Amino acid sequence: MAAVREKLRVGVVGLGIGRMHIDGWREHEGVEVVAIADADAARLAQVGERYAIEARFASAEAMLAAGGLDVVSICTPNKFHKALTIAAFEAGAHVLCEKPMAMNAGEGRAMLAAARRAGRRLMINFSYRFSAASRGLKAQVDAGVFGDFYFGRTVWHRRRGMPGFGGWFGQKALAGGGPLIDLGVHRLDLALWLMGYPRPTWVLGSTHDPIARPLAAASGKAFDVEDLAAALIRFDNGATLVLETSWAAHIQEAELMETRLLGTKAGLLQKNLNEGYSFDAHIFTEQHGAQLDVHLHPPAAPARSAMHDFAAAILADLPHPAPGEQGLVVMELLDAIYDSARRGEPVRIGP
Ligand SMILES: NC(=O)c1ccc[n+]([C@@H]2O[C@H](COP(=O)([O-])OP(=O)(O)OC[C@H]3O[C@@H](n4cnc5c(N)ncnc54)[C@H](O)[C@@H]3O)[C@@H](O)[C@H]2O)c1
Repeated sequence: MAAVREKLRVGVVGLGIGRMHIDGWREHEGVEVVAIADADAARLAQVGERYAIEARFASAEAMLAAGGLDVVSICTPNKFHKALTIAAFEAGAHVLCEKPMAMNAGEGRAMLAAARRAGRRLMINFSYRFSAASRGLKAQVDAGVFGDFYFGRTVWHRRRGMPGFGGWFGQKALAGGGPLIDLGVHRLDLALWLMGYPRPTWVLGSTHDPIARPLAAASGKAFDVEDLAAALIRFDNGATLVLETSWAAHIQEAELMETRLLGTKAGLLQKNLNEGYSFDAHIFTEQHGAQLDVHLHPPAAPARSAMHDFAAAILADLPHPAPGEQGLVVMELLDAIYDSARRGEPVRIGP
């Protein structure tokens, strides 16, 4: 009889979005969330009660020192991703780190080096890949429906969606940047993933801050990041991608998420419905002299969480989705966009 494998024992650090990690881990029957950590005692108690998790720690360090964890979710503000990820590897765990991977690409490289030293896995929670609409489109991409992608536009704009002034999201020292590093990472990863992660070579970026900073200053609260960023990215296969993202812009929609990719045989559109957080997927093509619009009927594919798929990959000893190496490509692009915006000229990436 085959040996019954014990459940993966998971610890979650940071209980804001970390609560959704607990829900996500619980989708897989081979996983048990056994420990949580948060510096906020009230949040720690509330989440511990809600999920009946006994092992509660005031710091990630204390949780890791207690030992016995196979996987750790890092869900703290961006500034702490690197140190806590490395500490988790040193404690022998695999890591699912929230996006953005880190504050910059240098930190991302240090995290990957630590993963290699420990012989453990690093996955980044690019959660928008895991929706039914995204998975459905990816299956069509893998089946060759689109030919070669040569142009794309990937967008996440908010009319007035700044996080509360004074919090960590609006402070460069804690977040690393504004909507580009917060929202842009998701739409950038989604486009790159569908395109097959081509290698970026040139970036022209710009950032602007006409709306949020004056409002924050008027309220006397800290806020020193952009409220809009845009970029034109060129890849070594000749493709180009436009990225646009904002927390504040004079636009019609409260929340607009859209990724369009044009391929030699067909184009795709993944967009949010009714300015909310459910998604639709379309394919546009030409057949027998007719222009066709194909709507992926929902659910296009089962929507499972990133946590579910990470657990399944670890348990089956298969490659996991959204690996740290792809998170690093995104970080290199973000660094280049901010650098290009600062310098006012295109920036070359890589050799
Ligand atoms: N994938 C997504 O769609 C998504 C959505 C929201 C947030 N995020 C990411 O998740 C991370 C957290 O964001 P959030 O919205 O949950 O923030 P948050 O401020 O709501 O929660 C962060 C929590 O971490 C705790 N914390 C901070 N430092 C800690 C430490 N050293 N040890 C233990 N606990 C610590 C805080 O007390 C707080 O409860 C960020 O990196 C953010 O970009 C991702």
